Amino acid sequence: MSDFFNLKGQVAVVTGGGSGIGLKTVERFIAAGARVVMADRDHCSEKASALGATFAACDVSKESDVEQLLEATLREYGRLDILVNNAGVFGAYQKLDEITTDVFERCYRVNLLGVAHGIKHAAKRMQPGGRIVNTASAAGLTGAVSLGAYVASKHAVVGLSKTAAVELGAQGIRVNCVCPTTVNTPMAHEQGGDFMIAGERLLVPLGRICEAEEVAAAIHFLASEECGFVNGQALLLDGGMGCGMTEIGFSELIS
Ligand SMILES: NC(=O)c1ccc[n+]([C@@H]2O[C@H](COP(=O)([O-])OP(=O)(O)OC[C@H]3O[C@@H](n4cnc5c(N)ncnc54)[C@H](O)[C@@H]3O)[C@@H](O)[C@H]2O)c1
Repeated sequence: MSDFFNLKGQVAVVTGGGSGIGLKTVERFIAAGARVVMADRDHCSEKASALGATFAACDVSKESDVEQLLEATLREYGRLDILVNNAGVFGAYQKLDEITTDVFERCYRVNLLGVAHGIKHAAKRMQPGGRIVNTASAAGLTGAVSLGAYVASKHAVVGLSKTAAVELGAQGIRVNCVCPTTVNTPMAHEQGGDFMIAGERLLVPLGRICEAEEVAAAIHFLASEECGFVNGQALLLDGGMGCGMTEIGFSELIS
């Protein structure tokens, strides 16, 4: 990788770093020269050490875990430059008339509280120039059938990111989020996911879903020092889907 967007000498924490988008972000940050803590609920120490990262066990829904993660990072490395609040859960496909409190609570605790804990405890440990990138979703910008709990939690992530950008701007800390449509990770292939993916391929002008590496690249852009005046943004990665219906989508509709 060239010197553009390099992260040499910087310390980054990526939550949900053991799989999918988080894992690709860890790989990319290391390639850019950062020292990276891969934080995950699942045990991933072998994966982390194979990449040259450090593993930290952390359940982001627990404030004490997140506080301990960020404090330990600061103690170990002496600085915290970047936090990627990426850990998330999908919930379940349920329409609003059947949705269960349990699914709402799961999405709320991990997707919303996980990000809130990260922002709260990273901001106090970052110097001016710190960056926080949150993984929201395109489902944080629009509604989606049968995904009420997930959609609500991701709208909250967009709102938190904008609020944090306003509150932390004076400290010189930037906060942004990424909003991808379906990404080719284990989460997307959960029960019912392949049906959604087939539909989305018809609607995305690029004719495919997003790859985890492409989201990691957007996170890297937002986390780079070069991107210094981008703050409070919800960056949509939708392959052009929001620009209009594709020809193939139209023909499927009328056939
Ligand atoms: N895959 C998609 O289609 C898609 C689309 C838009 C946004 N997203 C978002 O991207 C993020 C990453 O998802 P992914 O697609 O890479 O999924 P993934 O399932 O591959 O990875 C999620 C990771 O988060 C970890 N995790 C889950 N709950 C946790 C918790 N409480 N504490 C710590 N770690 C936890 C998991 O162990 C896993 O390693 C999520 O926030 C997700 O909502 C995914």
